[in-house]
Amino acid sequence: MNEAVPALKGKRVLITGGFGFIGSNLAHECVRQGAQVTIYDCLDPRSGGNIQNIQEVRGEVAMVINDIRNLEAICANVLNQDVVFNCAAYTSHPNSMREPYIDIDVNCKGVINLLEAMRRFNPEGKLVHIGTSTQIGKMRVDPIDEDHPEFPFDIYSANKSASEKYVLVYGHAFKMHTTVVRLANNFGPRSNIRTPEFGFMNYFIGLALQGKEISVFGDGAQLRNISFVQDSVNAMIAAAVDPKSDNHVFFATADRQLSVAEVSKTITEVVGGSVRFVEWPPDRKAIEIGDAVIINKKIKSVLGWKPCVDLREGLLRTKEYFTPRQRLYLG
Ligand SMILES: NC(=O)c1ccc[n+]([C@@H]2O[C@H](COP(=O)([O-])OP(=O)(O)OC[C@H]3O[C@@H](n4cnc5c(N)ncnc54)[C@H](O)[C@@H]3O)[C@@H](O)[C@H]2O)c1
Repeated sequence: MNEAVPALKGKRVLITGGFGFIGSNLAHECVRQGAQVTIYDCLDPRSGGNIQNIQEVRGEVAMVINDIRNLEAICANVLNQDVVFNCAAYTSHPNSMREPYIDIDVNCKGVINLLEAMRRFNPEGKLVHIGTSTQIGKMRVDPIDEDHPEFPFDIYSANKSASEKYVLVYGHAFKMHTTVVRLANNFGPRSNIRTPEFGFMNYFIGLALQGKEISVFGDGAQLRNISFVQDSVNAMIAAAVDPKSDNHVFFATADRQLSVAEVSKTITEVVGGSVRFVEWPPDRKAIEIGDAVIINKKIKSVLGWKPCVDLREGLLRTKEYFTPRQRLYLG
């Protein structure tokens, strides 16, 4: 991206789920680039959404408190937007197993609502939807790329897999400008660091900030793809502004995989706390996927994106954000 002229300067941008972890970081970057930003979010208390997340840009974004399950409202809000980023989702893997119908309503029907709204009222607009690496399930071919089969292990990931296909169907069938950017294990400012339900990484950071012990299951040797959120935000913007991204799925993941043990040790070195290795709880062992090795070759070659922030630098920036705000995120 040419930083001299920010890619989104003067663009009208709608961010569904803009109070959440990824959406709020995206909102900050869009504002920084000079976009006119509207956040559309229902502030679902079961999600990582937090009004605090947009505190620094509160006066510079329009806010619509509404639900992507509300077709009429979403139709009214996609109108005249240059770009719609869909960051709204029912995001907890365990909750999706307890509440599968809510998950279908938000992660499938909600996405259909957005697609229908775009088709009817903004067919020239660009839609960037977020997919997840957990759509893959267990790695069958090493490394994982965008053509790897998907056999997800939970309802959230299964529904994310289905809704990604809806996005591509609309792109093909109605010649709409749609792209899916698949993310994996993001960490960084504005994440939900209070509970383990939104991924291990941010929860570990929350424990470390409080000087607590991090429990790693087994020997922690399993490999994971960890991304700093700003890199993901940059990937989504690269997809939004480059027509070559139309009707493609991209993995926007780190250049190298790290073991859970290595990540945990680095968190304690940079942020605080300590690590303890514990036996796998049987219910967790049953859904453990083993190593996940994802490559980012496609997005690099098609969009010229690359990750720029390594684990240590990302942790420093995360610590800097949360340290003065611990009470707001952990209290
Ligand atoms: N965080 C990660 O590591 C990660 C990894 C892969 C994919 N993703 C995807 O990125 C997207 C954003 O995830 P996140 O980590 O920011 O989650 P989050 O839980 O922090 O944010 C989700 C936001 O969506 C809002 N929301 C939920 N249901 C809604 C509805 N029905 N209508 C309107 N708003 C609604 C919530 O209030 C919240 O603000 C999701 O699609 C998720 O699947 C995230």
